[in-house]
Amino acid sequence: MSVIQIKDKRFKTFIPEEQIMKEVARVADEINRDLSGTNPLFISVLNGSFMFTADLMKHLTMPCEVSFVKLASYEGTSSTGKVKELVGLGDDITGRTVVIVEDIVDTGLTMKQLVETLRARGPKDIKIATLLVKPDKLKVELDINYVAMNIPNDFIVGYGLDYDGLGRNYRDIYTVIE
Ligand code: IMP
Repeated sequence: MSVIQIKDKRFKTFIPEEQIMKEVARVADEINRDLSGTNPLFISVLNGSFMFTADLMKHLTMPCEVSFVKLASYEGTSSTGKVKELVGLGDDITGRTVVIVEDIVDTGLTMKQLVETLRARGPKDIKIATLLVKPDKLKVELDINYVAMNIPNDFIVGYGLDYDGLGRNYRDIYTVIE
């Protein structure tokens, strides 16, 4: 086990690289089995999912495409407060099978909003693939099709995930030490 320091917080190894790789390969196998022949468009949500997306894509065996989007947060005028706007999707997704690739589903609010935004663009089907889910924190109903790993509520970094912009470069996933 190794311990790292990022700003004011200390983290310890939680999910080693080998286990991440194994679960990512399993998810890719499931996608290969389910979506072959659909020419899916993978929509990777930056920044957190860049490593997961790259490793996942290496295992896919069907013809497929990938696009990268960002969700820009701004304070909305609606009562819900934070609104996240989808930036960067130039592709026409009408009639297409779309797979959203996320790093982590926490409350699920981000994902729900993203699904609704994409649905308005007329795809044939929307699937969700996420590296991690914190099931105990889910606040909304979501049909998550592909999950590499379920984790407890604790804050994690590494393998694309950050604490205040730092920590994305680590190969393993680390959990915060209280
Ligand atoms: P949600 O809308 O609550 O599901 O939040 C999802 C987003 O919160 C993810 O895409 C991450 O950017 C961020 N997030 C949630 N939990 C963590 C964590 O433990 N570490 C780093 N980022 C996290």
